[in-house]
Amino acid sequence: MKVAVFSAKRYDRTMLNELNAAHGHALTFQEARLEPETVALANGYPVVSVFVNDQLDEPVLKALAAGGTRLVATRSTGFNQIDLRAAARLGIRVVRVVNYSPHSVAEFTVGLLLALNRHIHRAYGRTRDGNFELDGLMGFDLHGRTVGVIGTGKIGRVFARIMAGFGCVLLGYDIDRNPDFEALGGRYVPLEELARESDVISLHCPLTEATRHIVNADFLAGTKPGLLLINTSRGGLLDTKAAVAALKSRHLGGLGIDVYEQEASLFYRDHSSDIIDDDLIQRLISFPNVLLTGHQAFFTREAFGTICATTLESITAFERGEALVNEVRAPST
Ligand code: NAI
Repeated sequence: MKVAVFSAKRYDRTMLNELNAAHGHALTFQEARLEPETVALANGYPVVSVFVNDQLDEPVLKALAAGGTRLVATRSTGFNQIDLRAAARLGIRVVRVVNYSPHSVAEFTVGLLLALNRHIHRAYGRTRDGNFELDGLMGFDLHGRTVGVIGTGKIGRVFARIMAGFGCVLLGYDIDRNPDFEALGGRYVPLEELARESDVISLHCPLTEATRHIVNADFLAGTKPGLLLINTSRGGLLDTKAAVAALKSRHLGGLGIDVYEQEASLFYRDHSSDIIDDDLIQRLISFPNVLLTGHQAFFTREAFGTICATTLESITAFERGEALVNEVRAPST
């Protein structure tokens, strides 16, 4: 099938080309993000593959449908960038990558937490500069501390299991209780209680209308002073302005984020020679107790290989008229 692959970086080309030998699709790579300005590049492609920061709102989907696109394959688990209702109306089917290594994201989350708590990122900068001072680098033992997990799905549970290994007390909040989380010793509690009791909170639920700004000023006001907050899920879960206010007031002890509300115009590109217009991210970066990475938690050989393989398998199944096991549909209202 003719496939237009958007947001294609060198590593996407390499992995997809290698795995495509078994599928034989005609892949055209576009470095550009899919958005109104670039959607014409998809003209004549029955399949379009996208990533987390491509824009698939109704106007873009209409243009895709008009150009003959019938399948959108996102190389991600999250699909909040796609207006599923509009896609369904326009006869465009959507597939995602439901299952790839949840370990990739969970392990990265632990990495962010450890670096933030023990100031490893700052120590790295100091020692390279010949500064071996410890002042300002004190952290706390995670052993015995309470870790709140919001969203105890695949990634949240792997994260919880690792934290159980550290000897942490686990609290969970989810709309669905999962017995595996409870088997780890985790206890489901209301969101307010999780906020109040946790020393560390990590976000692992999807971004939906219900979860947008699930961590906002009210939530933060109900948390323990000194809380470490980690978000490797989606930027929109956190009201970033509220987080900045809580950092400025010294209530929030640290923030580790791999995702950011306005990341679409920044992430996956080199802006080191640009004046960045986004004052909020600049403010975040200026805090010594904020650690920000550019949506890389998924980026391990295992996870990335599975993402590319699953995407190609879905496209092949679509071409053959087979069932799309990774199809995602608009929720019925
Ligand atoms: P999952 O579907 O296995 O788990 C999500 C959990 O969130 C489920 O248990 C679900 O019941 C829960 N949930 C849904 N709505 C909720 C609500 N309103 N309140 C509380 N809990 C709610 O998904 P998985 O694979 O664990 O991924 C979680 C998220 O991680 C994805 O949606 C995606 O946004 C993010 N992600 C980030 C990556 C990165 O590179 N930073 C890579 C992959 C995923």
